[in-house]
Amino acid sequence: MSLRTPLLRTACARRAGQSLQIRNQVVRRRFASGGPEISPPPPPRSSSVPYLLAGVGLAAAGAAYLFYGTDGTPRETAKELKSEARGAAAAVEGKLGLRHSQKDYQKVYDRIADTLEKEGYDDGSLAPVLIRLAWHSSGTYNKEDNTGGSNYATMRFKPESEHGANNGLNVARDHMQKIKDEFPWISYGDLWTLGGVAAVQESGGPTVPWRPGRIDGFEHHVTPDGRLPDAAQAQDHLRFIFYRMGFNDQEIVALSGAHAMGRCHTDRSGFEGPWTFSPVTFSNQYFTLLEDEPWQWRKWKGPAQYEDKKTKSLMMLPTDMALVKDKSFKKFVDVYAKDEEAFFKDFSKAFAKLLELGVPTAQFAGEPWKMGSE
Ligand code: HEM
Repeated sequence: MSLRTPLLRTACARRAGQSLQIRNQVVRRRFASGGPEISPPPPPRSSSVPYLLAGVGLAAAGAAYLFYGTDGTPRETAKELKSEARGAAAAVEGKLGLRHSQKDYQKVYDRIADTLEKEGYDDGSLAPVLIRLAWHSSGTYNKEDNTGGSNYATMRFKPESEHGANNGLNVARDHMQKIKDEFPWISYGDLWTLGGVAAVQESGGPTVPWRPGRIDGFEHHVTPDGRLPDAAQAQDHLRFIFYRMGFNDQEIVALSGAHAMGRCHTDRSGFEGPWTFSPVTFSNQYFTLLEDEPWQWRKWKGPAQYEDKKTKSLMMLPTDMALVKDKSFKKFVDVYAKDEEAFFKDFSKAFAKLLELGVPTAQFAGEPWKMGSE
């Protein structure tokens, strides 16, 4: 690993430099405003006005692109350009094929995959907390006003980084920062969501289609507190929160299956313990346990949570139990408990959808990719 890192770094730096040059040339060629040798265009006919307007828009996006990459870093002298313009620039980048290639993103994926295992941390893997980071950075989406979601990676900023629901995610953000330092060209939004995909896949879960295109926003994009679910509540609350993101009952249940992974921490959420016996393996065990085990309220000083009667070593949150108490939700728990393939298929779809919430489609260059280790 120590051999690989510097090699990767130099290769990346070289490529980043080259591609920036090429990009600037292309963008300049396509968007340069008229020089002295270009004669002024004839007055527009009414039918050419829309084309002219589109041209002006593209020129503006091109100019924005010269100042900023999609990672929000000033490239030249401008201090702050409207994020709408940078979004448009990202769209142009995608359309013109100027974006880093799938191979480049695969290198980031591989690096994340290489660093998931961590002896002495929880159950030996960072995968669960990376899945939670990807989810919390996307789950702030509100379809009513199209705010929130993974586009701007706003959890980098206060107060969102300090919202109660995000307690403990500094572990994941700090880890991802190390990857970002190695691949500075990737946006935080792309990095965090790719981290979630790698964590699911490398833990034995389904392939999750993913594509780059997110841009990093500014502090003023931070979302208000209260957009993520409160584990102490029940089905009405789950529907309120997830319908706001644009999900249905089946998708709520499928997504909740991610609790096969990881555990609760008293110093983060107040709750304690893992949901399953193998918290670093992505499986449908969460659903089989929900259905098959007798659960009882745990008697302790912490917040109200369930424990399994037999071993008292597993836990369920009130929102987890809501999935078997509510008829519509339970229908899907039944399916996923019996059929892991069906769960994997539905989880993959819903998780891919979650990770793209709030990202204008124009910012994506094409169809999602299948990332993964050989
Ligand atoms: C349905 C509503 C949900 C509620 C109320 C909820 C609540 C929680 C809570 C309280 C924790 C414990 C945090 C800690 O103490 O470290 C947690 C952890 C976790 N959640 Fe959720 N969650 C929900 C949905 C989801 C979804 C949709 C995903 C992913 C698709 C997810 C993935 C995870 C993972 C992987 C962990 C383990 C993190 C770790 O081990 O550090 N959760 N969740």
